[in-house]
Amino acid sequence: MLTDSNLAVNGGTPVRTKSFHPWPVWDDREVESLKDVCTSGQWWSIGGRKCPVFEEKFARYQDAKYGVCVPNGTLALEVALKAVGVKAGDEVIVPPYTFIATASACLTVNAVPVFADIDPDTYCLDPDKIEEAITERTKAIAPVHIAGCPADMDRIMAIARKHGLKVVEDAAQAHAAEWKGRKVGAIGDAGTFSFQASKNLNSGEGGIILTDSDEVFDRAWSIHNVGRVRDGRWYQHEILGGNYRMTEWQAAILLAQMERLDDQTKTRNANAAYLTDRLSRIEGIRPLKRLPEVTQHAYHLYIFRYDPAGFGGLSRADFLKAVSAEGVPVSSGYVPLYREAAFRTDLEACQFAGRRIDYSKVYCPATEKACDEEGVWLFQNMFLGSREDMDDIAEAILKVQQASRG
Ligand SMILES: Cc1ncc(COP(=O)(O)O)c(C=O)c1O
Repeated sequence: MLTDSNLAVNGGTPVRTKSFHPWPVWDDREVESLKDVCTSGQWWSIGGRKCPVFEEKFARYQDAKYGVCVPNGTLALEVALKAVGVKAGDEVIVPPYTFIATASACLTVNAVPVFADIDPDTYCLDPDKIEEAITERTKAIAPVHIAGCPADMDRIMAIARKHGLKVVEDAAQAHAAEWKGRKVGAIGDAGTFSFQASKNLNSGEGGIILTDSDEVFDRAWSIHNVGRVRDGRWYQHEILGGNYRMTEWQAAILLAQMERLDDQTKTRNANAAYLTDRLSRIEGIRPLKRLPEVTQHAYHLYIFRYDPAGFGGLSRADFLKAVSAEGVPVSSGYVPLYREAAFRTDLEACQFAGRRIDYSKVYCPATEKACDEEGVWLFQNMFLGSREDMDDIAEAILKVQQASRG
């Protein structure tokens, strides 16, 4: 409990009263691009002038050969899993520290998510935990570039190749992120991105599947376009697909947003580096580790680890409340996915599974610690501002620390 009356949580003056950088960022370019769609009368992506251009542009940007746009990142995962050949009853290894879609997309395609723990230093899928999760039913691994920080793709790809598994990168949070100088998304067999409102590249909703494989591209394209084939007739449906086509409106916004992505990524990285330097000097605060192979982080989130020992035993919940009251929004982040009710009670979707998993028996200690005890999130828009904004974050934490030590 904090009793210090200087703290904003107890009625004192907050460190910061102004808001952080606004989000979304837009100007006339978005308006003109939307106007262009409106006045052209070409509102859907078949024969479109925005969606096909964006697919090519974003794929090239992320060092991939092909892109297929879809309405959101969740559908992108479903289409990608099917496109790499995941079938009913197959198992897909996923981390439990992620947004639900990474695992629920497996269930939606009647595959079974098998949770493997995260690395406590990076919060990405721990390569050391993958092999013990492999069974004869395992078909794919879906690492998540959590917070925009690439997972250890060298080790994950080596394990996948050794066991004949496919890799679908969940890069929903990792626009512009790089592993050893190569952007993520097509390092594995396929990769997926989200363009949902909070994402570093956003159109309110949206998603894309990237791949270097001609075969995966053909399948993804076909699945997203009701089973059509690219050079086929209009009423020729070779496989079962759905209508997962993005609209021209979404692509129009994305093309305009993309013009800022490089600059925004640079700003986020510079501010994050400065904040890491400041936070690393505060006892009880440990920013997540960034592997040397991560040549560019997307900083969709900035995550640090909180230790009450540096704060006179103050619980994380009270720390979050106190720092937020100082004008610095912070969050505790995810719940371990296997603890979500959806994985406890609603598993009819899993009826084709060859192996029923009782998710109440799953226990991933590093994930539990990240979720229940130490993980603290800051958000990407906070890193688009100035160094003074970073100083305010550090000062708010230091103020709470001082008060907590009484
Ligand atoms: C890691 C991760 N995977 C998948 C998704 C799903 O994307 P969408 O919200 O666009 O469906 C998200 C988005 O929140 C995400 O953060």
